[in-house]
Amino acid sequence: MKTSLSSGDLLERSYRGDKPWRTLASIYGRHAKSLILAAFYNVIKSSPTWIMPVITANVINIVSTPGANAARGLLLNAAVMVVALVQNIPMHWLYMREISIAARNVEAQLRAAIVRRLQLLSIAFFKNARGGALQTKVLRDVEAVDQMSRTLFDGGYTAATAILSSVIITAYRAPKFLVVFLIMVPVASGLRIFLSGSLRKGNRDFRREIESMSAQVLGMIEMIPITRAHAAEETEIARMTRKLGSVKDAGFRLDLRNALFGGVTWVTFQIFGMGSLIVGAWLSYTKIIPLQVGDVVMLSYFFTSISNAVMQIANMMPTITKGFESVRSIGEILESPDIEQNLGKAQLSNVRGEFLFENVGFTYRGTKRGSLRGFTLEVRPGETLAVVGPSGAGKSTLMNLILGFERPSEGRILLDGHDMNAIDLRSYRRFVGVVTQETLLFHGTLRENILYGGHNIPDSQVLDALRNANAAEFIEKLPDGLNTIIGDRGARLSGGQKQRIAIARALIRNPRVLILDEATSALDTASEAVVQTALDRLMKGRTTFIVAHRLSTVRNADRILVLDEGQIAEIGQPRELLERGGLYARLCAMQQIG
Ligand SMILES: Nc1ncnc2c1ncn2[C@@H]1O[C@H](COP(=O)(O)OP(=O)(O)OP(=O)(O)O)[C@@H](O)[C@H]1O
Ligand SMILES: [Mg+2]
Repeated sequence: MKTSLSSGDLLERSYRGDKPWRTLASIYGRHAKSLILAAFYNVIKSSPTWIMPVITANVINIVSTPGANAARGLLLNAAVMVVALVQNIPMHWLYMREISIAARNVEAQLRAAIVRRLQLLSIAFFKNARGGALQTKVLRDVEAVDQMSRTLFDGGYTAATAILSSVIITAYRAPKFLVVFLIMVPVASGLRIFLSGSLRKGNRDFRREIESMSAQVLGMIEMIPITRAHAAEETEIARMTRKLGSVKDAGFRLDLRNALFGGVTWVTFQIFGMGSLIVGAWLSYTKIIPLQVGDVVMLSYFFTSISNAVMQIANMMPTITKGFESVRSIGEILESPDIEQNLGKAQLSNVRGEFLFENVGFTYRGTKRGSLRGFTLEVRPGETLAVVGPSGAGKSTLMNLILGFERPSEGRILLDGHDMNAIDLRSYRRFVGVVTQETLLFHGTLRENILYGGHNIPDSQVLDALRNANAAEFIEKLPDGLNTIIGDRGARLSGGQKQRIAIARALIRNPRVLILDEATSALDTASEAVVQTALDRLMKGRTTFIVAHRLSTVRNADRILVLDEGQIAEIGQPRELLERGGLYARLCAMQQIG
C-alpha cells in the first residue's frame, strides 16, 4: 500500500484539468510506441482506399488506349488490388490491437488514479461532494475520455491517411489539379459542416429531452412507495405522460429535420462530386490540364475522399469537446488539494489512549459560528467518557476530531503526548475501533466484513469476537456460517444483528481507542440490552468515547461530558452530575432516569 502510494510515475502527478491537450499528451505519451505503430498499420491497412482509384484509372486508361497489352495490364492491376485488399484483414487486427492497448491502459490508469485519490482525500471533501457526481467521474467521465481518444486516433489517423495519400498521388499524376482541390474542397466541406451543424443542434435538444425523461423515470421509481402511500399514482402517471408526450414531439421534429437536412446534404455533396468529374473532364478535354480519361475518374474519387476526411474531422469535434470537459471534471478529483496530509509524518507503533484537548476550537467550512469552542479536557487511558447534550451541541464534531477526520481550527489535540497534527493518522487509526448508529456492510462474506482490513486472523478468533459481541447465536443459524454472503449493505440482517457484527469488527482489531456514536440508538429495548452487554465487554481497558441520546446507556461511564452549543457545560461522574442538578440532571429528568 505505502509503496504504491509513493511510487514515481503516478498519472495524477502530471494531471492538469485546465490543460487538456497537455494532460492527454502526457497520459498517452506513456503509450507512444503503440500509437506510432498504430499510425503505421493504419497507412498500410487503408491502402485500398487510395490504391483503388489508381487501379480504376489504370484499367480505364488501358481499355481506352488502343494497341496496349490489355490482358497483361488488367491482370497486374487485379493482382495488386487483391493483395491490397487481403492485407487489410491482418493489418486492421494489428492496428486495432495497438489502439486498444493504449486506450484500455489509459482508461484503467485513469480509474486507478481516481480510486487512489479518493482514498487519500479528507472526509470533509466527501461531505461536501455529491455522491453521484463522484460516481460519474469514475464511470462516465473516464468513458468520455476513452471515447475521445479512440475518435482522435482512429478517426484522426484514417482522415490523415486519406488526405495525405490523395494529395500525394494527385501531386504525382496531375499536380495542376491540386489547385482545383484547393478551391473546391473547402467550399464543399464548409457547406456540409454548416448543414450538419444545424442537424447536431437538433440532436442535442432531443438528447436533453431524453436525459430529463430518464431522470424523471428514476425519480418516479424511487418515489413509488411514497406515491403509493399517498395514493398519488394518478398524479405521477399524468406527470410522466406529459413528459413522454414532449419527448415524442421532440423526436418527431428531429426526424423531420433529419429527413430534410439529410436529403439536402446528400444532394449537395453529390453535386460537388459530379462537379469535380465535370471540371476534370473539361480541363482534360480543353487540354488546359492534359489528363487521361482514367485519371479524370480517379481525381473525382480523391475529391470525395478528401472531402469525406475533412468532414470526418469536423464530426470528431463534439466528442473531443465532451472529452475535454471530462478531462476537466476528472481534474476536480485528481487535483483537489483537500487530501489528508499523512505522508512523511511520524508513524505510531503503539497507542496508550491518553487524550489531551488544549483549547480546541472547530469551525466548519462556510460557517461562522464554531461548532466546538474553547474545549479543554484530559482523558486518561482506559477511561470511558460519555458525551451527551442536545442535538447540534457538537458531539459528532468532537468524534470527527478524535478520529482525525477533521483537524482543529484552533488549539491542539495531544494523543499520548503527540500532537495529532504531526502523526500519520493511518498508523493511529489501526488502534481505533468505531461503532456508529448505521452499520456499513459491503457485499462479501460475513468473515470479510468482520476482518475488514485485517489479515491472517484465524477463524477461532473471529468466532471469539462474534461471541463477545453476542452475535454467535444468530451466526450459527445462518446457512453458511462465516461464509454467508452478506448482500448489499446487509439488507437481510436486522438493525441489531448488523450492529453486533460492527461490534465484532471493532473487537477483532483489539483497539486501544473506541468510539461509539449512538451505537444503540436504532435498537429496541430488548436488542439494546443484548448489544449493550456486548459493548460493556468491548469497552474494558480501552479509552472509550460514547455518544448517546438515551442516557440510561451511559450510567456506567467513568465520566459524563455534557456539551452545549459547542462548549463544555458540565463534566463529572454520573452521580455527581445528578446531585449537582444542572443540565445533565434536567436531561435525565426528561427521560425519567434516576
Ligand atoms: N458538515 C457540516 N458543515 C457545516 N456545519 C456543520 C456540519 N456538520 C455539523 N455542522 C454544525 O455543527 C454543529 C454541531 O453538529 P454536530 O453534528 O456535532 O452535533 P451533534 O451534537 O452530533 O448533534 P446530534 O445529536 O443531532 O447528532 C451543528 O450546529 C451543525 O449544524
Ligand atoms: Mg451527531
